[in-house]
Amino acid sequence: MPGLGDATRGRLLFGGDYSPEQWPPDVWEEDVRLMREAGVNLATVGVFAWAALEPEPGRFDFGWLDTVLGLLHDGGIGVALATPTASPPPWLGHRHPETLPQGPDGVRRHYGSRNHYCASAPPYRRAALAVTEALAARYAHHPALRLWHIGNEYGTTCHCGHCAERFRGWLRARYGTLDALNAAWGTAVWSQRYSTWDEVTAPLTVQYIGNPTQDLDYQRFGSDLLLECYTAERDAVRAHNPAVPVTTNFMDLYRPVDGWRWAEEEDFVSLDTYPDPGDPGAALRGAMSKDVMRSLGGGPWLLMEQSPGAASWRPVSTPKRPGLNRLWSLQALARGADGVLHFQWRASRQGPERAHGALLPHAGPDSRVFREACALGRTLAELSEVDGLLGAPVAADVAVLLDWESWRAAELPHQPHAGFGYVDRLTEYYEPLWRANITCDFARPAADLSRYKLVLAPNLYQVTPAVAAGLRSYVAGGGTLVLGPFSGVADQDERVHIGGWPGLLMDVVGVRVEEHWPQASPGTIWQEWAEPRGAAVVESAQGGPLDGRPMVFRHEYGAGIAWYVGTVPAPDALAGLLARACAEAGVRPVLPDLPPGVEAVRRGGVVFLLDHDSGACEIRPAA
Ligand code: GAL
Repeated sequence: MPGLGDATRGRLLFGGDYSPEQWPPDVWEEDVRLMREAGVNLATVGVFAWAALEPEPGRFDFGWLDTVLGLLHDGGIGVALATPTASPPPWLGHRHPETLPQGPDGVRRHYGSRNHYCASAPPYRRAALAVTEALAARYAHHPALRLWHIGNEYGTTCHCGHCAERFRGWLRARYGTLDALNAAWGTAVWSQRYSTWDEVTAPLTVQYIGNPTQDLDYQRFGSDLLLECYTAERDAVRAHNPAVPVTTNFMDLYRPVDGWRWAEEEDFVSLDTYPDPGDPGAALRGAMSKDVMRSLGGGPWLLMEQSPGAASWRPVSTPKRPGLNRLWSLQALARGADGVLHFQWRASRQGPERAHGALLPHAGPDSRVFREACALGRTLAELSEVDGLLGAPVAADVAVLLDWESWRAAELPHQPHAGFGYVDRLTEYYEPLWRANITCDFARPAADLSRYKLVLAPNLYQVTPAVAAGLRSYVAGGGTLVLGPFSGVADQDERVHIGGWPGLLMDVVGVRVEEHWPQASPGTIWQEWAEPRGAAVVESAQGGPLDGRPMVFRHEYGAGIAWYVGTVPAPDALAGLLARACAEAGVRPVLPDLPPGVEAVRRGGVVFLLDHDSGACEIRPAA
């Protein structure tokens, strides 16, 4: 199987989305000249070019793309060629309205934007495969081609009849019989029992609250359905040239597609990330999504999109201050990326994204932003020469459990606290380690965790027998586990565990939770009525409705330690607790005693020091 190394060919990648179809041909030569000046070595072409490639059904126009790829190749610039299937041309929706996605209210979304497709509609699937096939047949051996970029930011949902039909097929494969489906969905509640398969639909707008397990299964199905679109296109391009690596671009931490499952189908993982330059937590969030990407693919990944400046979809689209794009680009390299690409190369003159940042802004090459782009290009060229960086792994002693199953289920409607966000919990646990310059991987709950000294499970809502068995043996074998609140609550069908929480892990943490106690008040949003069952009480509530009750527990289990945190602690308290867990587990920072605001990451033979907001500081290598 090819990998990212087949695309990088020994150089860190630098560039961005390039949309020549938005510009007259006389601009293309200037583009290539300026790309060379900036040190761009990869352009992502064709992401939204379906209408330009196939102006009428079945009539392909590749002339312009031949010219563009030829110009890029002659300029020494590689191409990430996209299948354009995220944005069908109007002729598809006009001729086949069933290809337009339908909301749960039955209303269809019209064309006139992008992502307006139903992943189940046969005419969409046929047309998407046809344009993919035609592209692959023509360009799979083009000398400029470095990688295939399938679709764009998969995540579209639809609730139409075609989807219902596919959903029923998916459910039959999962449950076998209608009786099993009725049992899993708990349809005894509210007279929801299905008597024939034909009665089963996608979740639709209902009078009151819908069935949570139907919702959960539809989320699982939605991820699988889109994955099927991706793999169909991947297989089509691979068939023409198996040596070219294939990827699709993920959006940060994004619930609709199960990153673990998807990453298995990619030759490498790529990320689109747009932290808000006005957000004081942007560097933290950026670090976290970059660590997630490295972990999903288990190796080097590609930063496919970031904005060199503003992101125009924000209510206030503040640009990046001087140096910020460089800093965040280096953060990506530090955390395992082998390339830094942008949305986009040249700023659009028209259309919804005319106010979006670009490497080549409306002001032209005589601009701060373009000069910064050139400087970044030079930096990446220099770093390509550094031994032990390109392709190198990032070592981590800590794993944070990331579980799409728990994420979907914990955020279903009518959980105890509507504002209890899964990613918020992950971020709270990740943050103190990031501040302490302790590198974390993310891991699947069912993964082999034995190489980690410390495992954090900030909100392991769903615990299956297999996951419980894995965590039990991890702790028994000498590992340290920190289990956060609202964990071990339900099984895979959203059937609540009886007899106390965290269900199958009660004996491991030595705690039994009787009640979840969410609060609307400021202070903590969540506490639990819990009793130790073998664990030592480390912290108790101070004030509030559960004043004096135990909240944080530490349990020696086998050769290891299991902590249970039955609350959302104040940041300082959580930082203290995790510092103790790290110290006991022998987890050390990349470098100790750095000034606040300086991030340190070791990748291969290189230590990156990233100054986010120290003001100014001097760090000397140890004597
Ligand atoms: C991404 C998308 C790009 C562009 C960008 C703007 O979601 O893939 O095509 O729209 O956002 O920030």
